[in-house]
Amino acid sequence: MDQYEIIYVGFPIWWYTCPTIINTFMESYDFKGKTVIPFATSGGSTIDKACKDLKASYPQINFKQGKLLNRATKKELEEFCGK
Ligand SMILES: Cc1cc2nc3c(=O)[nH]c(=O)nc-3n(C[C@H](O)[C@H](O)[C@H](O)COP(=O)(O)O)c2cc1C
Repeated sequence: MDQYEIIYVGFPIWWYTCPTIINTFMESYDFKGKTVIPFATSGGSTIDKACKDLKASYPQINFKQGKLLNRATKKELEEFCGK
């Protein structure tokens, strides 16, 4: 993980937030000073609560705006990744 500055973290929304295994992942590495960009799929919920919860749990991490990518097109994915 040391070689990465920007990390995209993807997950399905479970009970309006990210599954707890994502917390295990976030706590398994030193993300301090790195940029983390969340993305998710869902059955209809937004990603907002997941992003809020991640920011609250890991204030030392620089989170960028997360994005829900339900049925995203290739174009949307490329825009999201900055390509
Ligand atoms: C335990 C569990 C909880 C879920 N909670 C939500 C939820 O709160 N809101 C929602 O929109 N979808 C919820 N879902 C649906 C998943 O977000 C959805 O199935 C998933 O994003 C689809 O990704 P997949 O095609 O890779 O499985 C839940 C699914 C499971 C299994």
